[in-house]
Amino acid sequence: MKNKDIDHMYKTYVLPTYTQKPICFVKGKGSRIWDIEGKSYLDFFPGWAVSGLGHCHPMVSQAIKEQARKLLHVPNNFQNLKQAQLAQEIVKRSFPGRVFFCNSGAEANEAAIKFARKWGSKSGRYEIITMNQSFHGRTLATLTATGQKKFHEGFDPLPGGFQYGEFNRFDQIQKLVSGKTAAIMLEPIQGEGGIRVAEPDFLKKIKVLCEEKKLLLIFDEVQTGMGRTGKWFAYQHYDLEPDLMTLAKTLGGGAPIGALVAHSRIKEEVLTPGTHASTYGGNPLAAGASLAVFKAIARERLLENVKHMGTYLKDALLELKKKHAVIRDVRGLGLMLGLELAVPGTAIVDRCLANGLLINCTQGNVLRIMPAMTVSKRLIDQAMRILDAALGEANEG
Ligand SMILES: Cc1ncc(COP(=O)(O)O)c(C=O)c1O
Repeated sequence: MKNKDIDHMYKTYVLPTYTQKPICFVKGKGSRIWDIEGKSYLDFFPGWAVSGLGHCHPMVSQAIKEQARKLLHVPNNFQNLKQAQLAQEIVKRSFPGRVFFCNSGAEANEAAIKFARKWGSKSGRYEIITMNQSFHGRTLATLTATGQKKFHEGFDPLPGGFQYGEFNRFDQIQKLVSGKTAAIMLEPIQGEGGIRVAEPDFLKKIKVLCEEKKLLLIFDEVQTGMGRTGKWFAYQHYDLEPDLMTLAKTLGGGAPIGALVAHSRIKEEVLTPGTHASTYGGNPLAAGASLAVFKAIARERLLENVKHMGTYLKDALLELKKKHAVIRDVRGLGLMLGLELAVPGTAIVDRCLANGLLINCTQGNVLRIMPAMTVSKRLIDQAMRILDAALGEANEG
């Protein structure tokens, strides 16, 4: 079969909710991915950060294989070993607390929103302040939490109880707090919002504000978590811990899993039996894969690699900035990097794709580059050559 045959099947049978390229991937290994016609691509945006360890990391694939032979699923009214071990591992790498498991980033954020509402309900508080340009998912509550109008259009009436403030503008956020506010929710680095990194002073002040006003501080680490920025979680770059943290994407290394981590400083029992649930959440297959992700990051010292390769890649991007006038800014942390352009980015992404490099464009003009945490200098050099050529054509055009 060819790419065009699969495209025909998609057009016939799959609802067109995605802007898609007619390319069907069938095999992946590390930073390489192959389409059904055998063309190979260098993947510098693996699975929108899901395949953070690269495609089919051997430890993750092996864990899935082993677990698939033993037990695929256990309902959550019983217990399973892998879920308990995974919760322990997440807490060990983050902060004292307990974990709720689900299947995606949106579900993890939905759980955080429900947690905040239930927590606030005793004192009549329910509002959550989120940031403009944020992205929290596509369920009705999480798309409402998302501070971007384009995702809201056509879905009225949206659930109430959300206020939107400016990221990195503490004074403006502070003004939104009222007697109804229960929580402040943000991404330490806005991914979909254009790789915008939270300033340390902003987060510090938000943290103090939450303590003073007794608000929950919720960090959406769906994209930034699991080593992407060179630490296990992005909040660890700042001298503070959130009350709630959500995870997904690289958490499963390709297996669908999401998590809400609630800090033990929240003394009340909030999500008590019957108040929230997920049929699949934390099943042995997904939890087993996730445990292997943690093991691989530790065993292969991937946090170190992210730091080194992140610096190497950022330096290479800064070199490109010197050469190409269309690059306005290079920003990000670790291997979560963005190039802001003075022109729309889609044509450049398309040129890279044609030349065998996968990257992403967000907010119309920010190229998002998030290679696997296992990436090497050699692969970065290859990718930079393709990007350099694509940017060169943009300069000419
Ligand atoms: C920061 C953030 N939160 C939430 C989500 C939603 O995750 P999912 O698509 O797994 O529901 C995403 C997805 O891109 C994200 O980047």
